[in-house]
Amino acid sequence: MELPQRPRRNRRWPSLRSLVRENELGVCDLVMPLFVIAGQNKRESIKSMPGIERLSTDLIVAECESLLELGVRAVALFPALTENEKDRRATESANPQGLYPRTIQSIKERLPEMLVIGDVAMDPYSSDGHDGLLDEQGIILNDETLPILGEMALCQAEAGVDLVAPSDMMDGRVAYLRECLDQAGFKETGILAYTAKYASSFYGPFREALDSAPRAGDKKTYQMDPANVREALREMELDLAEGADIVMVKPGLPYLDVVRALAEVSSVPVAVYNVSGEYAMLRAAAQNGWLDYEKCVSESLLAFKRAGADIILTYHAREVAGWLKRDNGSVA
Ligand code: PBG
Repeated sequence: MELPQRPRRNRRWPSLRSLVRENELGVCDLVMPLFVIAGQNKRESIKSMPGIERLSTDLIVAECESLLELGVRAVALFPALTENEKDRRATESANPQGLYPRTIQSIKERLPEMLVIGDVAMDPYSSDGHDGLLDEQGIILNDETLPILGEMALCQAEAGVDLVAPSDMMDGRVAYLRECLDQAGFKETGILAYTAKYASSFYGPFREALDSAPRAGDKKTYQMDPANVREALREMELDLAEGADIVMVKPGLPYLDVVRALAEVSSVPVAVYNVSGEYAMLRAAAQNGWLDYEKCVSESLLAFKRAGADIILTYHAREVAGWLKRDNGSVA
C-alpha cells in the first residue's frame, strides 16, 4: 500500500531543510541586557548568572564596542546601586549626575550607533525594593508613582537614551511618560512597554544582580498573574492606546502562548524578555554536563521567533552573536 504523504521528503538534506525553514534567528533580533556598577575597571560576577558580570561604566562602553563588532546593536541597561544610595522615593533615579545617566551618556558619546534602552521602574533605587512608591501600610501608590517615573524617564532622555522601557507595571504610565517626554521636547524618544509582565519567580537571579528583591511582600498587586492571557491582551490595548512603540512579554519561555497571542493582533513590534532565571537554568544544566548549551540556547531563541516575537532581550545575546558570526548567520 503506497503512503499518500511523505513529509520527510522535505527534511532530507541541509539545503532542503534551510529552503523550507519557516523562521530564522538573526543577530539583528537581539538585545543584550547589561548591569552597570560604580567605579573604574571594575567587574563583579553574579553567582546565579555564570558568565554575566556587573561592569563599571568604562567596561560597559568596552563591552558595547565588542557587541557592535559581533553585530549586536542594542543594549538594555540596568543600574546596581549601593544600599546607601537607595531611599523610599528612589531619589537617585532622577539625579542627572548619577551612575545611570552618566553611563548612557558615555555609551552614546563613544558609540552613537548603539541603541540604548533605559529601564524605568523604582526598584533598583528603592530601599523597599518595589517598582512603585509604598504607603505606610506597604500598599503601592499607583498615581503617586507616575511623577517619579516621569522624572526618571526625562533624566534618561536628557542623557541620550533611545527608548525608555517602563518595567514597573503601574497603570497609565505609558501615557504619562509620553506626555512628559513630548512636553520636554523628546518627541523622538520611544517607549518600549513591559506590557505583559508577570509576577514571576524566574526574576530571582536578576534581583541578586541588583540586590533589588522586595524587602517585604511581593509584586502581585502590580505584576500580572501567571494564570492569565486575556488580561495580557487588555494590557496591550491600553499600552497601544497610550502610545507604546513596542510591546513586550516577560518572562519568555514559559509564556510563549502570550507572545503568540500578542503577536497575532499587535499593530506594533513585539519583544520578549528571556529573563535571568531562564538563563540560569540552561547555564546550570550545561555546567553539569546535562545539556548541550549552544544547541539548547539556539533552539530556545528560535522558539521565540516561531511564537511571533520580533525582538529578543536575552543574556545569551553576546554568545549567540558569536555563533551566528561563525556560522554565517544561521543557527540551525
Ligand atoms: C524590575 C525588573 C525586573 C526584571 C527587569 N526589571 C525584576 C522584577 O520585576 O522584580 C527582571 C529581568 C530578569 O529577570 O532578567 N523593574
